[in-house]
Amino acid sequence: MSGPLLGTAVHGRALREDAQYRRIVERDFDVVTPENAMKPAHVQPEPGRFDFAGADELVDFAEQTGKRVRGHTLVWHNQTPDWMTDGGPEAARAHLVAHIEAVVGRYRGRIWHWDVVNEALADDGTLRDSPWLRALGPDYLAIALTAAHAADPSAKLFLNDYNVEEVCTKSDAYYELARRLLADGVPLHGFGVQGHRISGEPPASLRENLERFGALGLEVAVTEADVRVPVPASREDVEVQASVYRRMLDDARAVEACTAFVVWGFSDRYSWIPETFEGFGAAHVMDEHFRAKPAYSAVFGEEDVA
Ligand code: G3I
Repeated sequence: MSGPLLGTAVHGRALREDAQYRRIVERDFDVVTPENAMKPAHVQPEPGRFDFAGADELVDFAEQTGKRVRGHTLVWHNQTPDWMTDGGPEAARAHLVAHIEAVVGRYRGRIWHWDVVNEALADDGTLRDSPWLRALGPDYLAIALTAAHAADPSAKLFLNDYNVEEVCTKSDAYYELARRLLADGVPLHGFGVQGHRISGEPPASLRENLERFGALGLEVAVTEADVRVPVPASREDVEVQASVYRRMLDDARAVEACTAFVVWGFSDRYSWIPETFEGFGAAHVMDEHFRAKPAYSAVFGEEDVA
């Protein structure tokens, strides 16, 4: 493959109800990631009760339109029902494996990348104090990766996190973790850096960081890029924002092992930013009316034709 494929997170309701949104996904992107539909709380809200409606919709859409799917995510501290981890180590291990077998097995052969474990480390590089760590200890990562590989040997299995774009304490810890897992023969194929950034703060050592993971034999990807700005955004803000998108994409393109550059949504109409970061917004390449911002040209190198 030559260069990273461009992708976007997909908002389930928008894909279903907003024809213009759907057309733009079809037109502009080669890779789709469900923003929420494959997360444990959505897929298995109660023990043994699965709801694949949203996930099926996304995978069917991808197949009908010739796109690859980044599956997101199987193991996380967030959007995960308490019952999965609350019943003691034996039950937690059984739930972990059963969940992965069911979800990965259902889409066997149809998912390009799986974010198997999301956000496993804290910013200081230690294992995050997550319900999975408390229930199973550090082995939960290898257990999850092994179960995912058994359920779909053709899917590329990723660890994925935020604040790891640059060479820093947290990405150093991921580098060591990845080396250890590979040395132990655990099926790990990729490392995803999310890429949630604040405008004006491009990740300076992104390229160098991606390259070192590539040198371990892993694929790398920018998996959730967005660049938030203080709102209301000035003309200058959106120009600076465009330069941050451009810089990240240029770095991704410079790294041979980088196979995907995925934005976490493309329009300010459907955005997780305003409800999470007070005073910030406008983080995406199109505005709420699907008009191209300078960041759109930075990513696609052309004007919007929506
Ligand atoms: O499912 C309920 C729905 O029943 C209810 O009607 C609705 C009312 O608010 O809320 C729905 O849940 C929301 C869920 O998204 C699904 O839409 C939650 O409130 C909301 O907090 C949740 O936010 C998602 C967030 O992950 C959860 O932590 C965002 O949309 C999603 O963009 C965000 O994505 C994460 C990645 O998975 C991992 N990396 C960071 C990224 C941003 O936080």
